[in-house]
Amino acid sequence: MEFDSIVTNGIIVTASDVLPLGIEIGITDGKISCLGTSLPRDESTKIIDAKGAYITPGGVDSHVHFAQDNSPTGDNFVTGSRSAIAGGNTTVLAFASQLKTATSVLPTVEDYHTRAKDQSYCDYGFHLILTNPTPEIMSKELPILMSQGITSVKLYMTYEPLKLGDAAILDVLMSARSLGFTTMVHAENSDIISLITSRLEAAGHSEPYFHAISRPQIAENEATYRIISLAELTDTPILIVHMSSEVAMKHVRKAQTRMLPIHAETCPQYLFLLSERLKGNEQDPFEGAKCVCSPPLRHDPKDLDAMWQGIANGTFTTFSSDHAPSTYDHSGGKKLGLKDGIMTYKSIPNGVPGVETRLPLLFSHAGQEKTSRLSLQRFVQLTSSDPAKLYGLEGVKGNIAPGCDADLVIWYPENEIEGGVVIEQKMLHHGVDYTPYEGMTVRNWPRYTILRGKIVWDRDGGGVVGGVKDGQFLVRGKGKIVVGKMGQEATGMLSGERDYWR
Ligand code: URP
Ligand code: ZN
Ligand code: ZN
Repeated sequence: MEFDSIVTNGIIVTASDVLPLGIEIGITDGKISCLGTSLPRDESTKIIDAKGAYITPGGVDSHVHFAQDNSPTGDNFVTGSRSAIAGGNTTVLAFASQLKTATSVLPTVEDYHTRAKDQSYCDYGFHLILTNPTPEIMSKELPILMSQGITSVKLYMTYEPLKLGDAAILDVLMSARSLGFTTMVHAENSDIISLITSRLEAAGHSEPYFHAISRPQIAENEATYRIISLAELTDTPILIVHMSSEVAMKHVRKAQTRMLPIHAETCPQYLFLLSERLKGNEQDPFEGAKCVCSPPLRHDPKDLDAMWQGIANGTFTTFSSDHAPSTYDHSGGKKLGLKDGIMTYKSIPNGVPGVETRLPLLFSHAGQEKTSRLSLQRFVQLTSSDPAKLYGLEGVKGNIAPGCDADLVIWYPENEIEGGVVIEQKMLHHGVDYTPYEGMTVRNWPRYTILRGKIVWDRDGGGVVGGVKDGQFLVRGKGKIVVGKMGQEATGMLSGERDYWR
């Protein structure tokens, strides 16, 4: 067997195993064709030496916002995907967002294709944000989109221009059940947030810190319980995105122990950052705007610990960045919330950047030491293999196995990067002008990112060495249920009761 390239001298980590040093990866036509020892080679075979370091699957960041109209100053596909590969990602799933007034989503998706085509350093796909799920869209257009590889939607329970009420959510879940698309949900109680927001406003509390006060954990807890109930009623798998609250997470955990197909995601900001970051400082009282995201950063280190528990114990299926980029020092970015010296948190675009730092931040805590927060295998599950399964990319992405795309991250040998890497805005590749992780030290960083057999990131040999046309649109299949199963009665229902109304 002839290989185009062989990756040698590394420790391969998959979702199930840490293989012994020395297993080689043979790559042919951009795919992994073989794992073995002493693979045959000749002078034309390209040898990539991992120097004894860990090799993990290319990261699958299943929640990024690139080139969206609601964050016009942030990243487009060129800058966002450039940042993605520099942080070890080979796949991103971004969003095509329906306007509430749009009665067809096919032009929306076409538009987002134009924003991404030939402008991505890594492979990409789209989730559809549904803000107006008309019967026509659900019955005629969703099947078309699914045949084109767009097999997931995101729904919002909050944000005025995006949110759906329970009746509309139930309709979408019923369609998801019959068509088989994956449903992601942003779960926060909109009315709780509106009430507190108007009362804060009346009391003159409008600085960025009050963003956290306006969206208490109970808003997330209630909406999480509600969406789990709607999913249980309709027997539909869901994924609750960007979770930040322990009580909400426990609702998920409880549902999972009942074998309900309830998946959950958390993000770096909910493992590493607290609401104190929303307070400004003397030089810049508005600085906290950089960390305005929803759900908001929580108040107590115990909140971070709770999320770490969900990372370790399997409650979370995916660990995504929710890269939601808005330039800080820009009148159309975070500074939309600062007019004539008056700070108005509710006008600050939500979200933090993080596609490039996601993997190094989590990898820092993955290992076999007593102090490790998660195993290396769990790191792979959360960051690549489970998002690939959940979003219809199993067998293609997220694994180091014959037949899969040769998407790999080669880290530094641990003894070569002593002291770690200090995260600084100036070393990052996104289009945003800050990182919320400035000054934090991570243990390691991707030395190489390999996309379908091609080195696209070579940290010591030119940095970004891939091109904007390297990334391909991924025609995804139907997602797989990773947790629980379908086909159970909802609590208190008789066997077959749903058949009367399905
Ligand atoms: O604050 C966040 N997460 N903004 C991005 C939009 C979203 O809700 O995912
Ligand atoms: Zn969201
Ligand atoms: Zn998001």
